Amino acid sequence: MTLSVKRINDTFVGEVQGVNLADDHGAGEIKEIRDALMDHGMLVFHGQKMTSEEHVRFSQKFGPSEIHTVKQYLLEGFPEIIALSNRGDKGTKPIANGGAYWHSDITYKARPPMGSILYGLEVPPEGGDTLYCDMAAAYDNLSDAMKERIEGLKAVHSYLPRFMASRQIDEGFQDNKFELSDEQKAELAEVVHPIVRTHPENGRKALFINEGFTVRVEGMDEAEGQALLDELNAHATQDRHIYAHGWSAGDVVFWDNRVTMHKATDYDRQYARRMHRTTVQGDVPV
Ligand code: SIN
Repeated sequence: MTLSVKRINDTFVGEVQGVNLADDHGAGEIKEIRDALMDHGMLVFHGQKMTSEEHVRFSQKFGPSEIHTVKQYLLEGFPEIIALSNRGDKGTKPIANGGAYWHSDITYKARPPMGSILYGLEVPPEGGDTLYCDMAAAYDNLSDAMKERIEGLKAVHSYLPRFMASRQIDEGFQDNKFELSDEQKAELAEVVHPIVRTHPENGRKALFINEGFTVRVEGMDEAEGQALLDELNAHATQDRHIYAHGWSAGDVVFWDNRVTMHKATDYDRQYARRMHRTTVQGDVPV
């Protein structure tokens, strides 16, 4: 297989043609896809039709699955798949807008995931786009003074404040309408990561903070740290670093969490939106 990858954004998005993700790809094909992911940061595949088994099989060619701590959204029979569906899915709670804030997946773990593979099964006729942000370009475009200021700084990440906030987002369709067990809360305890990480495969530096889960700068006065995080988030999310993916059913987006962050946008909730995500385990950020 020789992949056909068209760059559809100036910096980090590749659109892949001629690949059926339901196939049982061999090592050579998987290497081509992985290389394309490393060259870009995220890949878009259109017109896919995968069973849950096939989705998991494709995902596990890139590494073991990260199983989400919040079991309430795991697809029955497939704990490797998190179902983001406003109607609920097999055995899962409904969730209207699972990641409606800038985040990179599961940065509140000591080893955040390498990648995520999101499959659009049912999508609204308009709205419900996912925005993606190129955090390597965002780092490159920082001033030298800011690069120097954040060199060596670390930030604390946690899921719990976000979990609580998303119970209050929208009284009409409130998400996360359940309690977490003490065990789940313990798994979601705070972790510390560098604010700038170096990609373990291509050596690029990227900003590694996000609005969703980064709660403070380690060792810095709270207000000063929050002002720094706000400034970095505002810098990162400028239009020049963003790609908006408007979904068609059958689209699959595979992103590298180490160089991107993303955010789901709103839509008319009279329409179904049902997405399945697998998540590939990663490495300790350095
Ligand atoms: C996610 O945050 O992983 C899902 C984004 C989306 O539903 O658009």
